Amino acid sequence: MPQRVLPRHLGIIMDGNGRWAKKRGLPRSAGHVAGAKVFKTIVRYCSRIGIEYLTVYAFSTENWKRPQEEVSSLMSLFKTYLRDALDNFLSENVKVRFLGDTSVFDPQLRELIQKVTEVSANRTGMVLNIALNYGGRAEIARAVQLLAKDVQNGLLKPEEITEELISSKLYTAGQPDPDLIIRPSGENRISNFLLWQSAYSEYLVMDILWPDFTTKDLEYAFDVYASRNRRFGGV
Ligand code: FPP
Repeated sequence: MPQRVLPRHLGIIMDGNGRWAKKRGLPRSAGHVAGAKVFKTIVRYCSRIGIEYLTVYAFSTENWKRPQEEVSSLMSLFKTYLRDALDNFLSENVKVRFLGDTSVFDPQLRELIQKVTEVSANRTGMVLNIALNYGGRAEIARAVQLLAKDVQNGLLKPEEITEELISSKLYTAGQPDPDLIIRPSGENRISNFLLWQSAYSEYLVMDILWPDFTTKDLEYAFDVYASRNRRFGGV
């Protein structure tokens, strides 16, 4: 049987934790805990089947608007996950990167982010990008600021700014654009996720809440992806 085409770079908008919890009469934070378990399973699975880049949307620049209690519970969950990654994830050959402005987090979380980045920096397996305090627009604005500084310092002429140069100033610099973006929970929105990078990504909305998502659902998404005919604007 011919080898199925897998996406090199997969993006996931992990959505539906709140609704999953509500359906069960649980607090929203319980949905995030269940979502974090699924996240771990999916990371391991992707790494084992040979996905090269996995980008997950964990906390957006807009998520600060949520009730304080929910934001705190998410922050604790990120800390728990990162501690766990330091203790138990050492055998996984996964390189962890963070996309977004992480300078605003509390010192404990910032330190964990730094440690996990450092400890995994030389790993050669899958790159796991965790988007934390990430927004596609904020990312593009930041890239424009970096380029404007280069122009100001005489290092660059405005007409030398190309698409490639803009890409090189994004958090995902040096990585291929996502081939497939999955959004569970049935919402048909991009929600400020990888705006620049997703210009030609295949997009798949799935009618399942993230805490219910399994490797079977992921396999289904890969089958859909393999059956699509990507034309990148050509014929
Ligand atoms: C969206 O669901 C989900 C989030 C804002 C948080 C995603 C975080 C996790 C899955 C936790 C694990 C992540 C790491 C990196 C440990 P929602 O709350 O918007 O759900 P709703 O649309 O049903 O309300």
